[in-house]
Amino acid sequence: MASALLLFLTLPFVFSVDPKCPEGFHYFKRAPTAWNNYTKEWCLGVIDGKEDCGNRDFARSICINHNATISMPENKHEFEFVTKIPGAKKTKINHAIDGQMSPRCVNKYMKHHYWFRKETGECNLKKGLFLFDDINTDPSFILDNSEGSPNHDDAHRVNETTSLVKYISTCLTIMGGQIQTEFCFGQQMNEYNSKAADIRTVVCGRPPL
Ligand SMILES: *[C@@H]1O[C@H](CO)[C@@H](O)[C@H](O)[C@H]1NC(C)=O
Ligand SMILES: *[C@@H]1O[C@H](CO)[C@@H](O)[C@H](O)[C@H]1NC(C)=O
Ligand SMILES: *[C@@H]1O[C@H](CO)[C@@H](O)[C@H](O)[C@H]1NC(C)=O
Repeated sequence: MASALLLFLTLPFVFSVDPKCPEGFHYFKRAPTAWNNYTKEWCLGVIDGKEDCGNRDFARSICINHNATISMPENKHEFEFVTKIPGAKKTKINHAIDGQMSPRCVNKYMKHHYWFRKETGECNLKKGLFLFDDINTDPSFILDNSEGSPNHDDAHRVNETTSLVKYISTCLTIMGGQIQTEFCFGQQMNEYNSKAADIRTVVCGRPPL
């Protein structure tokens, strides 16, 4: 009993294939705070969507089909789990994660190129720049370690008579181990737009069974 307790105390954040989580998900203990709605435990899974998880609604649907929500790692330990997922064939692993830029901030960016870290209002990176589906995950770790947001954009017109269309990368992803933004439409945009990166997996989260 005493040794079991000691083991528990020395390994507060442990993941394992645990009967507490459905297949494909790993169990994590979390420090409950106001920022993660006092979540003490959480199941995270890196789900292979087989198709284009760069499309945000497709990625969302994959998680919903697993009775989960698009989610993200909350700390370094969880981050290492999702970036070193066993069995991944590519060395560069690209995952969709929770977080999409708010429409008001997209509008602001389209008017002026913004550097959101310095923005003091609602579009500050740490304030309201991104909206999240998952209320059980504190996004601070991801935002603290993100590589600038957004990190690319694009614009095109079909021909000289049509309007200029702007695209901004507004969906959070982990690309080859780096936290950054990607276009939310995936690869099936159109012939005029540069293709978005290939993302086949999505990080999903749910409460334990
Ligand atoms: C936080 O969790 C509680 C249950 O633990 C739930 O009733 C509440 O709705 C959650 N908060 C939000 C903002 O969803
Ligand atoms: C999701 O939940 C429903 C209802 O509890 C269940 O029938 C179904 O098998 C679950 N799906 C997965 C993939 O766990
Ligand atoms: C420009 O593109 C539009 C939409 O595809 C097309 O209807 C129009 O004929 C094109 N105009 C020219 C000058 O090519």
